[in-house]
Amino acid sequence: MDDQKIDEAFQLATTLTKQCGSIVLEGFRNASKAVKCKENHWDVVTEYDQKVEDVLVRGLLERFPDHRMLGEESTTEANLREPLDERPTWIIDPIDGTSNFVRGVKFIAISVALVVGGDLKIGIVYNPCLDEFYSAVKGKGAFLNGEKIKTSGIEELKQCLVAHESSIASYATARPYVFGRGLEFIKECIGLRALGSAALTLAYIASGNLDCYAIDYLQPWDIAAGALLIQEAGGVVININGGEYDILKPDVIAAGSEKLAQRVLEVVRKVEADVVRG
Ligand code: IPD
Ligand code: CA
Ligand code: CA
Repeated sequence: MDDQKIDEAFQLATTLTKQCGSIVLEGFRNASKAVKCKENHWDVVTEYDQKVEDVLVRGLLERFPDHRMLGEESTTEANLREPLDERPTWIIDPIDGTSNFVRGVKFIAISVALVVGGDLKIGIVYNPCLDEFYSAVKGKGAFLNGEKIKTSGIEELKQCLVAHESSIASYATARPYVFGRGLEFIKECIGLRALGSAALTLAYIASGNLDCYAIDYLQPWDIAAGALLIQEAGGVVININGGEYDILKPDVIAAGSEKLAQRVLEVVRKVEADVVRG
């Protein structure tokens, strides 16, 4: 896809995402919406998750019929296992933070990313409750409601507001790592924050409101759009083991500066060693 096509795709994704914002708001205000549990009781989904995904996928496929879609509500395990190929691929979380959505907490986001040739080209994270539209096109910077944003650039943990998604500890295997990291961070940083939406958390790092985040066990649609926002805002996203960020296996460290990302990596490694030692 050339630059003109990417811009066209960005305009379309922007229009569709804003349209979906109205659906999310309608659902947010609907106190009797249907809520179901997925495999685990803490993992909930509503009729609005599917509605939003349908509007996005239908709208994008109408204009780009040969593009691949990886949306949380309609992606099969087999589709998710297929590696990224030459097809431009849209990675979509129709509502990130569904538990917040169900309980009337205004930290929710629609997350839309486009990958072309293995590279993130478009990232959109939209919180309709607060009307915050975060967007990035590769090489063109990151924006909040049209205003350029940048990461805090903070390098020292002791100056950081650290994003720490404790909900992942619902998985017993993740628990010692999650709380171990939390313990290490809080010894040194200003405070821990768990927003309940990974996509929005990454957007907050891009805008400099939060500083860093170490997260695993999530899915491509939780991270992809926010990762591009951070990269375009001057921050860093790496694999939680220190390697390169893998879009389809997004266990990541995200930070407002390279030095901070390396410091978070030290914490992750220390906790890993502690857990292994018992
Ligand atoms: C959830 C959010 C949350 C994270 C959960 C995710 P969902 O996504 O990103 O921050 O802690 O593990 O599942 O289910 O609301 O789309
Ligand atoms: Ca999600
Ligand atoms: Ca979701």
